[in-house]
Parts: sequence; C-alpha cells; structure tokens
Amino acid sequence: MKVTKAIFPVAGLGTRFLPVTKAQPKEMLPVVDKPLIQYAVEEAYAAGVRQMIFVTGRHKRPIEDHFDMTFELEVALEKSGQRELLEVVRNVKPDDMECIYVRQAQALGLGHAVMCGQRLVGNDPFAVLLADDLMVGTKPVLAQMVELFSEWRVSILAVQEVPAEHTCRYGIVAGTPISDQLLDVNRIVEKPAPEVAPSRLGVAGRYILTPGIFNEIASQPRGVGGEIQLTDGIAGLLRREKVLAYRYQGRRYDCGSKEGFLQANVELALAHPQIGPGFRDYLRTLDI
Ligand code: UTP
Repeated sequence: MKVTKAIFPVAGLGTRFLPVTKAQPKEMLPVVDKPLIQYAVEEAYAAGVRQMIFVTGRHKRPIEDHFDMTFELEVALEKSGQRELLEVVRNVKPDDMECIYVRQAQALGLGHAVMCGQRLVGNDPFAVLLADDLMVGTKPVLAQMVELFSEWRVSILAVQEVPAEHTCRYGIVAGTPISDQLLDVNRIVEKPAPEVAPSRLGVAGRYILTPGIFNEIASQPRGVGGEIQLTDGIAGLLRREKVLAYRYQGRRYDCGSKEGFLQANVELALAHPQIGPGFRDYLRTLDI
C-alpha cells in the first residue's frame, strides 16, 4: 500500500492566464528558474512517487520535451565543462523516475482527467497533484500526506482555510474533527456560494486517492460548469469509504491566477540562495 504513482492533470485550457496559455501550457510557466510542473514532480519524487502519469492535451508537448533527455544540450554542457548546469539538466528526470503520458482529448473536467489515468494506476492508491497549486513546505506537502496514508490507508485531501468570499473557487469539505489537523469528511461540495458553503475548508491541489474513486467518478453525472468533477467523485467515495481532510503544513501559491503566480515568483526569488540577496536589494529601490 505504498504510493508510487501520481497523476498530473495538465490538460486544462488555462483560460485565466490568456493570452500566455494560448499556445503553451500553463504548467510550463516559470517560477524563478523552474516550470510549475517541475516543482510538482519534485514534490512527488520527494514523497517516494516514481511513476509520473501526465494527463495531457493539445499544446502540451513542451511538458513531454521538458522531461525528455536533451542529448545535444548535455553534450554541449559536457564539452564546455559546465558540470553544475549539466547536473541541473540531468536532475529534471532522475534515472529511477518513469514518465508516462496519456491524452485527454477534450478538457471535460478534472474528474475526467483523473479517469484518463485509470488504466495506468490500476488497483493501487495514487496521488493527484495540480501543478498550478505550487506548495512550499519545510517537509514537502505530498510527503506529509504519504506519511499519513501509511498510517490510515484511506483517501486524503489537502485542505486549507479560505476566505468566505472565496468558497466559490474551491471544493469545500465538512466533517468530524479527529485532531487539529485531521477531519473525517462527511460532505464535499464543488464551488459553493459563501451562504451555502458547509465550512471554509477548501481543497488544495493535492490528493491521495484509493482506486475506488474511479467507479465513483464514472457514475457521476456532469457537475458544476458542465464538467466531470473530481469533487463529485469524492462525494460518492465518502459514502463507501473513509476520506480524511488534512490541514497541510506549508504555503500554497495559486499559480493558476496571475496574482498567485506573481507572489510565488517574488517570494521564491527572495528565498533563492543565488539571486535572493540581490533581488531583495532591487525591491528596496522601488518607490512603492
Ligand atoms: P483549472 O480549474 O485550473 O482549469 O484546472 P484550467 O483549464 O487549467 O484553468 P482556467 O480555470 O481555465 O484558467 C485544475 C487542474 O486540472 C487540470 C488543469 O490542467 C489544472 O492542472 N484539468 C482541468 C485537466 O487536466 N483537464 C480538464 O478537463 C480540466
């Protein structure tokens, strides 16, 4: 019951980030010097995941290229003796990591994207990471969840308190507290208006799910926005299995929105060992 597989749904249209996402995937947007998808893959790798399943769509080729070997570049770096950069390039895909691509022909929703990974996941528990939620934790957030999973062996959703006026952007959960950080979920609703939201605990883009989720997604009608929603599948799952909500330790940047993306760039640049100090000095010179 180890979590060794993860699905990365990267087939969304990224409409909130147009026009930059017109011909390139949102998940390849750089935060400082790495694309969003690489942060998510590194987080999964650090949690013990070795099989990365990307659910891709049109315009998503750059993601495949990013995790492929770049022979000419490696030869050039080797010849010019740039060992450090060579390591940076090689470390994008460690040898024991497998990348598999499956196509979602139409962006029918996150639940549908997860279903596209069903045959590759089989009957194992698996993680889902939404790369546009960039998570920064002293201990990587998925690693926190994998540790909990080894104890509970049930589906786990990462949650955080969101402002009341933002409940309509998230799946919102309610349930019975088990501890300060854990909740036994008995309700989940997709994007409720604040007046009807069952709580203010919003699901962030990290999940560990049992394979029972696939039947549940398949049996749901289309949900909010006419999309096949993962949230509706989880609502079905929690009628049959325990589902936990976990208040993760760390900071989340919503890089699917322009504000969150810019915040991530500023804060991660400030924390960057090489460019951080200089960037801080530069920000101080701004008359804001
Ligand atoms: P979002 O809700 O952020 O949708 O999807 P989006 O299309 O990417 O962006 P906006 O809202 O239009 O700006 C959450 C995650 O689910 C993936 C997205 O790629 C993103 O990582 N997704 C969504 C799919 O893979 N397929 C879908 O049909 C929908």
